[in-house]
Order: sequence, then structure tokens, then C-alpha cells
Amino acid sequence: METLTIVGCQFGDEGKGKIIDFLSNDFDLSIRFNGGENAGHTVVADHQIIKYHLVPAGFLRARTSVIANGVVINLKTLVEELKFLSVMRNKFDLKISNLAHVVTDLHVKRDRFQEELRGSRNIGTTLKGIGPAYESKFGRYGIRMMDLEDPYLLTEKMDFLAKMYHLEYDHSEIDQLLKRYADVNEYVTDTVGYLQNELNDGKSALFETAQGTFIDVEFGTYPFVTSSHTVSAGVTVGTGLSPRYFSKFLGVAKAYTTRVGEGYFPTELTGEQAESLRKLGNEFGSTTGRPRRVGFLDLPMLRMAVKLNSLDYIALTKTDVLGKCKDIRIATSYEKDGNEINTYDPNLKVDKVNYVQFEPWSENKKNLEKFIQFIEDDLKVPVTLLGNGEKREEMEVRGEMQLV
Ligand code: GDP
Ligand code: IMO
Ligand code: MG
Repeated sequence: METLTIVGCQFGDEGKGKIIDFLSNDFDLSIRFNGGENAGHTVVADHQIIKYHLVPAGFLRARTSVIANGVVINLKTLVEELKFLSVMRNKFDLKISNLAHVVTDLHVKRDRFQEELRGSRNIGTTLKGIGPAYESKFGRYGIRMMDLEDPYLLTEKMDFLAKMYHLEYDHSEIDQLLKRYADVNEYVTDTVGYLQNELNDGKSALFETAQGTFIDVEFGTYPFVTSSHTVSAGVTVGTGLSPRYFSKFLGVAKAYTTRVGEGYFPTELTGEQAESLRKLGNEFGSTTGRPRRVGFLDLPMLRMAVKLNSLDYIALTKTDVLGKCKDIRIATSYEKDGNEINTYDPNLKVDKVNYVQFEPWSENKKNLEKFIQFIEDDLKVPVTLLGNGEKREEMEVRGEMQLV
């Protein structure tokens, strides 16, 4: 049984999509297990730009794709995404969990309402109803995919949801949900049992987290986080597979740091330097188009990501972008009240960040090696994949990965 779980090491948008697409050729199964359409996983291949929101980014290459129980699904987005993807791969095998929760228009309205209520303390959510969908799941009034088999139950649940939110809703939404469900019904199944059988049968599986470690609902910069578990531990409850099935973990890290939405970001750049890096890296959100905040690579943050996720390997992306910058730095520690701190704490605002400087490598590849060596020596985790362009083939394999 070979399994590999991919996580984001920073605040999301590390380039997970490209890494997953690249690796999925070698796996039977590609599985998404958390988040919803707040995710945007970009793959540039076959002269196309594909932005996966709900479907796993291994869809084009793995034998079977699975949207597991931990995902929250907006059916409109899913139907549109499948329509687009089925042109690129007309024969595919997809399984969608009957336990996955559904995001309705009411959840989207609630997300907007909550953000307005927060005023200047808003989170900067994607306004896709993700937080409210997880709230209703854990509040035990959520709507699961299996509930769409029963129009009476669905109506009862929608009425309850509307009452909870003090909102009116148009009953045509029920018909719309049922119609969209009919479009994907053939894929809906017990993915927990399916995955158990496949893995017990020796099939290989690539698991994909959405978002990044420091917007995990528990371990991130709370409350400026998403509403699901984005760390590697999330893979077990997100799929229904016990921890025994998971042994290897790969973290995707961008050669610098970006963040969409509000929240603490110690190495953030401002002014012209930020503007120039944002432009160079085309740092605009895949889901909302918002400009991403940008900053230097933060090693204390990666040290914490290695521990929280038990990382065996690292994929470093966008080295081509950073290599063109004049000022290249890595944060190595912080200072707080005169003390040096080596560990990232999402709840502690530091006074100062200490950096080490590097030389640009667009003209001299040896400088890139020095940059990578510095990261590997510090983290004691090998950088096995190196992204040096947005296209599928713009990837350097630097080392072997053992998956068992
Ligand atoms: P994800 O959410 O982690 O999958 O990342 P996104 O797709 O939201 O954002 C990453 C962006 O960087 C996308 O536009 C990718 O096409 C692009 N990208 C990924 N890896 C590389 C790389 O190594 N170099 C360059 N130039 N672009 C990359
Ligand atoms: P991928 O999978 C980057 C951020 C939002 C906001 C916060 C909460 O593409 O890496 P939400 O809508 O989830 O309630 O918003 O989380 N966020 C992401 N940032 N990449 C993502 O996904 C994100 N998904 C959510 O910007 O700050
Ligand atoms: Mg993204």
C-alpha cells in the first residue's frame, strides 16, 4: 500500500495543484479530503489552465478521483467543473462521498452577513459559504449529499437552516439542488468503504489537502483561518481511513510567502518591493482574483509545518520567480522583548524578524543550490521536487521518494 499526503506549508496557494498533477500519474487514486470551492488548485498542461476547486488535481492522470467526506460541496460549482473537465478527459472514474456536506445559497448569504458583521475585523473569507457549511455540519443541522435522495428531508433541512439564519429562501432552490444532484448522482457513493477496499487491495493513493498549515482552524492564525483541518492529521477523518493507512507526507512550500485575506504575516513586504514580487509571481487569488499579500520565506514557519505535518519531503515552488528578484532573503528567527525566538507561533506578534541574504540565481544556478541547501540543512527534510515554471513539465526531480 503506497500513500502520499500532500499539504501546504504556508497560508495556501503554495502550488499544490501543480505538484499533485505532476505526481498523480504514478497513483491509482487521487483524493481531496477537506475544504470546498474556497480552494483553487492551478494546473497548466496541454495548453490549458485548469483551476480545480472541488475535484482533486490528479483528475486528469490518476485512474480514479475521489471527493471524500471531509469536503463541503457547492453543487453548482461541481457540475460546472465536471463539465469543463470532461472535455479534457471524457472517460473518467469519479467517486463522491455520500457523507460530504452541501453548501447552499443560504450558507453563502450567511458568510457575507458574518463578514459584514465583523466590520474592520473581517477575516477576508472567499465568501463561498465555507465557514457556515462547516458550522452547520458540526451544529448537526447540515445537509449531506445523501439527504438529496429525499426531497422531503431536504425541504425540512432547508427550512431549519433558513430559520437558524433568520432568512427567507426561495423554494425553487430545492428544485435546483435536486436537479444538480441528479447530474452527479451516478458518482455519489460510500467512499469510506471504497477507499478501505482499494487500499487493503494494495492500490496507491495520493491525498490532497486544500489550503495551508497556518490557516488550519486549530493551528493557524485564528480567527484568520479557514474552517477545516488543513494539517496532515486532517486526512484521517476527512477520508474515514484510520491513521495506519498514512506513512508519508510531502509539504509544498513557495520559495517566498503569500497570503490572501487578513491575518498575521511576519515577513510581509509592503510598497514597491511587494508590488514588484506580486507582479513577477502573478500573485492574484485563483478563486477570488484578489491580490495576494507577499513576503519572504519564513523558516521558523516551515520548522513548525514540518513538525505539525510530520513532513518527509518538501516540494519548493516558484524558484524561477524568486530567482529574478534582487533582494532575496530567508527569515531565520524573530525577536520579542529582547529574546531570540526560533519557532513560529501564530498567536505571538514579534518585534523584529532576522534574515539571511541570498544572491539571485536567474544567471547563476549555483546560487539556487545554496538557497535550497540552506533550507534542507535547517529543516533536515529533503527538497525532492523543485518548481521552476508554471507548466507541468517545468519541474526538477531532485531526489527519490520512498512511499512505504
Ligand atoms: P495551490 O492552491 O497551492 O494549488 O496554488 P494556486 O494554484 O492557487 O497558486 C499557485 C500559482 O503558481 C498558480 O498560478 C500556478 O500555476 C503557479 N505555479 C505553481 N508552481 C509554479 C512554479 O514553480 N513557477 C511558477 N512560475 N509558477 C508556478
Ligand atoms: P488553496 O487550496 C489561500 C483563506 C481566505 C481567508 C480564509 C478564510 O487554493 O491553497 P474561507 O473562505 O475559507 O472561510 O476563508 O482562508 N483561504 C485561502 N487562502 N488558498 C486557499 O486555498 C484558501 N482557502 C481559503 O482567503 O483568508
Ligand atoms: Mg490556490
